Amino acid sequence: MSEHDFKTSQLLFGGDYNPEQWLDYPEILERDIELFKQAGINTVTMGMFSWSRLEPEEGQYHVQWLLDIVDRLYQNGIYTILGTPSGARPNWLARQYPQVLRVDSMRRRNLFGGRQNHCYTSPDYRKKVWEINRLLGEKIGTHPGVILLHLSNEYGGDCHCPLCQAAFRNWLKEKYGTIQELNRRWNTEFWSHTYQSFDQIESPSPLGEMMLHALTLDWKRFVTDQTADFARMEKEALYAGGCKKPVTSNFMDDFDGLNYRKFKDVIDVASWDSYPEWHRKPEKETAVETAMQHDFMRSLLKKPHLMMESSPSSTNWQDVSKLRKPGVIRAASLQAVAHGSDSALYFQLRQSRGASEKFHGAVIDHYGGEDTRVYREVCETGQALEALSELTQTSVHAQAAVVYDTENRWAVLDAQGPRNIGMPYKDTAVKMYSAIRRQGLNTDIIDMEDPLDGYQIVLIPMAYLFHADFEQKVRNFVENGGIAVMTFWSGIVDDTDACFLGGTPHSLMDVFGLRSTEIDGLYDGEENSAAPVKGNSLGLDRTYTCRNLCELVKTSGAEVLMEYEKDFYQGLPVLTRHAFGKGKAFYVCADMEQAFYTDVLTRIIKQENVSTPMEQIPDGIEVSTRESSEYLYTFVQNFNHEPVSVSLPEPAVLWFGTETKGTVPEYGTVVYRTKK
Ligand code: GLA
Ligand code: ZN
Repeated sequence: MSEHDFKTSQLLFGGDYNPEQWLDYPEILERDIELFKQAGINTVTMGMFSWSRLEPEEGQYHVQWLLDIVDRLYQNGIYTILGTPSGARPNWLARQYPQVLRVDSMRRRNLFGGRQNHCYTSPDYRKKVWEINRLLGEKIGTHPGVILLHLSNEYGGDCHCPLCQAAFRNWLKEKYGTIQELNRRWNTEFWSHTYQSFDQIESPSPLGEMMLHALTLDWKRFVTDQTADFARMEKEALYAGGCKKPVTSNFMDDFDGLNYRKFKDVIDVASWDSYPEWHRKPEKETAVETAMQHDFMRSLLKKPHLMMESSPSSTNWQDVSKLRKPGVIRAASLQAVAHGSDSALYFQLRQSRGASEKFHGAVIDHYGGEDTRVYREVCETGQALEALSELTQTSVHAQAAVVYDTENRWAVLDAQGPRNIGMPYKDTAVKMYSAIRRQGLNTDIIDMEDPLDGYQIVLIPMAYLFHADFEQKVRNFVENGGIAVMTFWSGIVDDTDACFLGGTPHSLMDVFGLRSTEIDGLYDGEENSAAPVKGNSLGLDRTYTCRNLCELVKTSGAEVLMEYEKDFYQGLPVLTRHAFGKGKAFYVCADMEQAFYTDVLTRIIKQENVSTPMEQIPDGIEVSTRESSEYLYTFVQNFNHEPVSVSLPEPAVLWFGTETKGTVPEYGTVVYRTKK
């Protein structure tokens, strides 16, 4: 993290605004300002798609129009988040410097078009981006209306051009030193794929190498590093222009193309674009997955994050452009705040007229009036955010964490076996997250590089690849009194995807009191089930189904709480518990259904006396807390279709929203405030 702390005195409300599309309609800007003010909009994000207007020909800069708009908005109490335009370049740039065009894994160079399709290694692209960013930093970033600098737009993708190949080879040279060491760590003896020199290495390609898992893994690491380096260059250019303000870049929902953790020292505040498919499945399920993403983003810097974009209505790039049912825009915006966001920002404020987003939901649609359902709900949300402004900069203290690790995800999905038709990594993480959230515990989503100290309970789904001394962290955590719940397919390979010898979970067999001996992949539709062992210490008393993966373990000291009911491994453990040091280590051997995780975690939390903000949280109700030095704020949100009764936290005082005798309305949000 850099030294520029992002501080605002209000929750940011507004979103992406593209005035470059409306410069021929001066009356529109004035009208928009009126509508923004009425809705309580205090922030707009501009600039990320303006490069053609800012530099219509090489070296001919026109920034005054944007500066005028920043200024006009500022006079009206509206701040600007200034986007850099690197995500989409002008046509002249691609023609003059063809090297900036991205090359795909089949070694084909792209034509001009789309966005995020540049080569992030190209010195030409870096130079052009540097120049425009430096100028924007100088001319616009220094304006008092600009509160935050926003790097590019949704970095992503990879480039396989000769420049990127050369950079990758250097990256590998730096990492491994000698080609012999690379061969050893990558296990290239397999199929005689040894390299004699770094020059022979090519990025993964369907035309060449796709089976060397360590190569693919390192390529993904390199792409992340190179993109983060590009982002750092963008930031330095803005700063070279003389504006030293906090920086962010908008991340995507559960995106695994980049390891966002590597951007920690580039950004000052984490932000993301939230586009859940509301109403595709029960809203309460969508709410859980969205909450998990908020928690992931907040956990990156362990401080308030921003919801940089979300749709105020339908999202036209999804399979179906579903309208938000009444109340959902507000509920989703307040959910962001409940999970630590200091903003609710939308894409887009004014709907564009042409091209691919003309039917994307917007605060102001083509009709242009204020008498629309969406605009009205946005106004209501603006009022709610205003009422909650005391929450700005309050923190979220998490007692629980889920380890959901990007490098591990890359490796586990690439591994070939034990299931090539779906490895339930994300599913297992979501199930564990959902179960712990049913207890109302704030939960961080962390990775293996993060420390585990300070949490009471840590959930570890399918930690296949160990890196960053994770095994040592788990050991210390349990030894010092923590509760760890780890699942099947953990501790299998090292950080170059080479299998550990001598038994798994690697170096944690004594902590969990068992050794994994085999793992059975199940066909789609195949099931097994787990039955409780009589008198088990958690008091589990029903059976649960499992699918996809069933691991067979041999215990050495762990108590068996549940066992398989079918197949040749009937009677082998499904759930175990082992006391180690001052803590407890639970191991889940199979891909269990949601109810299993919910029941098991409910019992563990009770048995281990972990304090929760509320007894008995009904299904579809989300409880989250934020706190200042003075108050604890407890959010209760109802993502059910009908009103639901909750038992209120004592001695909390209803501070925001309306409930009747503890009943929270459909999609309703109430906040209780307790003096600490
Ligand atoms: C992304 C982008 C925006 C816009 C929206 C549409 O998140 O950042 O520019 O394209 O999607 O949903
Ligand atoms: Zn390239």
